[in-house]
Amino acid sequence: MDVVRAAVGRTAEGAAGGARPHAHAGAVTRVNGPLVEVERVDGISMLELVALGPERITAATVAIRGDRATLQAYEYTGGLRVGDRAEATGRQLSGLFGPGLLGQVFDGLMRPLSSAPTWLTADRAPATEDAETLGRVWRFVPTAVVGASVSPGDALGTVPDAGAVEHRVLVPSDAIGALTWIAPEGARRVMDVVARVGDREVRLGEPWPMRVPRPFRDRPAGAVPLHTGQRVLDLLYPVARGAAAAVPGGFGTGKTVLLQQIAKWSDADVIVYVGCGERGNEMADVLDGLSQLVDARTGGRLIDRTVIIANTSNMPMMAREASIYTGVSVAEFYRDMGYDVVVIADSTSRWAEALREFANRNGDLPAEDGYPADLASELAAFYERAGRVTTLGGAEASVTVIGAVSPPGGDLTEPVTTDTQRFIRSLWLLDRDLAYSRHYPAVSWTGSFARDTVTLGSWHVANGDAGWPARRARATALLAEADRLGALAEIVGPSSLPGHERMVLLGGRLLRDGVLLQNALSDNDGFCSAAKGAALLDMVLAVVDACEGLIESGVAATTIEQADLGLVLRAREEIGPDDAAAVRMRALEVLRLLEEIR
Ligand SMILES: Nc1ncnc2c1ncn2[C@@H]1O[C@H](COP(=O)(O)OP(=O)(O)OP(=O)(O)O)[C@@H](O)[C@H]1O
Ligand SMILES: [Mg+2]
Repeated sequence: MDVVRAAVGRTAEGAAGGARPHAHAGAVTRVNGPLVEVERVDGISMLELVALGPERITAATVAIRGDRATLQAYEYTGGLRVGDRAEATGRQLSGLFGPGLLGQVFDGLMRPLSSAPTWLTADRAPATEDAETLGRVWRFVPTAVVGASVSPGDALGTVPDAGAVEHRVLVPSDAIGALTWIAPEGARRVMDVVARVGDREVRLGEPWPMRVPRPFRDRPAGAVPLHTGQRVLDLLYPVARGAAAAVPGGFGTGKTVLLQQIAKWSDADVIVYVGCGERGNEMADVLDGLSQLVDARTGGRLIDRTVIIANTSNMPMMAREASIYTGVSVAEFYRDMGYDVVVIADSTSRWAEALREFANRNGDLPAEDGYPADLASELAAFYERAGRVTTLGGAEASVTVIGAVSPPGGDLTEPVTTDTQRFIRSLWLLDRDLAYSRHYPAVSWTGSFARDTVTLGSWHVANGDAGWPARRARATALLAEADRLGALAEIVGPSSLPGHERMVLLGGRLLRDGVLLQNALSDNDGFCSAAKGAALLDMVLAVVDACEGLIESGVAATTIEQADLGLVLRAREEIGPDDAAAVRMRALEVLRLLEEIR
C-alpha cells in the first residue's frame, strides 16, 4: 500500500496534465540556434515547456537565473526574433498515452509522423495532441464493475482494435478508491472519460511526463533471459529481460543491422525503436522490414507491435534529446500493461551530440571532448529506466534497453562509450576486423561481456537446458585458446604445432563460422531458436572432441584437417530456425564420417 501511495504522490507532483489557468508570458531576449534566452516569464520552473513566438516553437527550461531563463528549443528557431512572446505552458514535455501508438511513427516529442509534411506543418502542441489521433474512435470493452474498490494498475477495460497486443486500460497511478462509473462497451475517442475512480475521471488516453519514470511495485528477484535470436548473444553474451545493453562499434561495423535483427526477432511483446540522428533512409528500411515481416507469434505484421520514434539526422537536433526519454516512456506504458518491452536506441552517440551542441552554445564549462559535465547522469536517466518489475497491477513485466554507441574513429575510450559502460549489464562490442572480414554479427569475443551470465545460466538449468553453463564456458575457452594458438601459428606456421593444438584451431574455426557467424539475410539463419543454437554449438563441441580422439588414436592432424566439415558449417543455413532435431541428426552424421577416418 505504501508503494501505491508513494506512486500517487509522485504523479500528482509530476502534473503532466493541462495548461495553467493563466498564461505567464515574457519575451525572448536572445536566440542562438536551439539556445533561447527569455525574461520576465513569471513563475517559470525547470523543465517547463515554453511556447515561443507566433509559431509557438516548443522549448524546455534548462536554467533559471532571477527573472531570466535559458531554454532549449526542440525545433528550428530560424524565424524567432528578440522581443517575441515566450509563454509558459505549466507542463513538462509529456505524451498522451493511450491506444494508437502501436504500428505508428512519432517524432522525438511524440507527435505522429505518418508523413514528413505532417511533421513540418503540424500544430505545434506537444505530445500526440493532433486532430487525427484525438479524433480516431476506439472500441472500449469494460472489464471492471462499478462499486469495485480499485487501485493503481488495476485493469478497467481493453481496447481490442489497438494493435497486435491487447491494449489494457488501467487505473492511473494517482487514482484509488471505489469505481463509481465505467463506460459501457462502445466507441470512444482518446480524450473521452471511460471510468471514474472516486471523483477522478479516467480517460482512454492519459498524459505522462517523459522524464518521470512510471511507478511500479517492486523488482522481483532472479533473472530471465531475453532471447534475441542472435546466437552470439544468446549463447555467449546473454541479456536479461529488464537489463540494459550497449552496442559500441565503429563506422559501418553492423550496429544498425544487429539492432534491427533484435527488433525483428527477440521474444519481447512490444518493441520501441528510437532512431536517433541516424540516416532517414535507414528508418525507412526499418519501417519497410517490419511491415513486410510476418510476426511468428500473432500471424500479423511485426510493425503492429512496434512503436517507432524517429528523429533522423535531417530533423531538428534538439528533439533528439527528448526522443530517448520519449521512447522509454512509451516502453514503460506497455510494461505497465504487463508486457515485456525492448527499447532500441540507434544511436546514443548522436543523442549525446545534441547535448554537446547545446552545452557549447550555452558556454558551459566543457568536460571531456566537449560533452557537458552531466553526460553520465543524463545517460543514467535513460539506462536506469530499464528494469524487470512487478507492476502496480501485480503483473511481471520488463523494459529492456539496448543502445548503439558510435564512438568517433572507433575510439572506445571516448566519454559516451566509457560512461555508458557504467550503466549497462551486457556489452556487445563490434569489432572492425571481424566486420571487414564479413564475420557478422561482428560481436567481439575479447571485448564483450555479460554480467548476468551466472544468474541467466541458472535460469537455463532450471528451465530444461542443464548444459547451458558448461556449453558457454567451453565455447569461450575454445575461442580464447584458438585465438592464442592462431597468433602463435602465424609466427611458427600451423604445421609445426602439435596435433591437439591444431584441433583447437580447427574447433575455433568451426565455432566461429558454424555458430557465431549468422547471416541476417537468410530465412533459415536470420533468426535462431535457443534449441537450434544450443544444438549447433553442441555439434561443434562434439566434433572437436571426436577430432581430439582421432589424434589420440594416432590419426595425422593433416588427415583430419582435410576432412570435409562443410556439413557442420552449412547446418546453420540449411536447417530451419527451430529445427534442433535436424541439427542433432546432422551431428551424428558428421561423427560417423569422422569415425571412418580412423
Ligand atoms: N548481420 C549481418 N549480416 C549481413 N550483413 C551485415 C550484417 N551486419 C552488417 N552487415 C553489412 O554491413 C553494413 C553496415 O552495417 P550497419 O549499417 O548496421 O553498420 P553501422 O555500424 O550501423 O554503421 P554506421 O556507423 O554508419 O551507423 C550493412 O549494410 C551490411 O551490408
Ligand atoms: Mg548505423
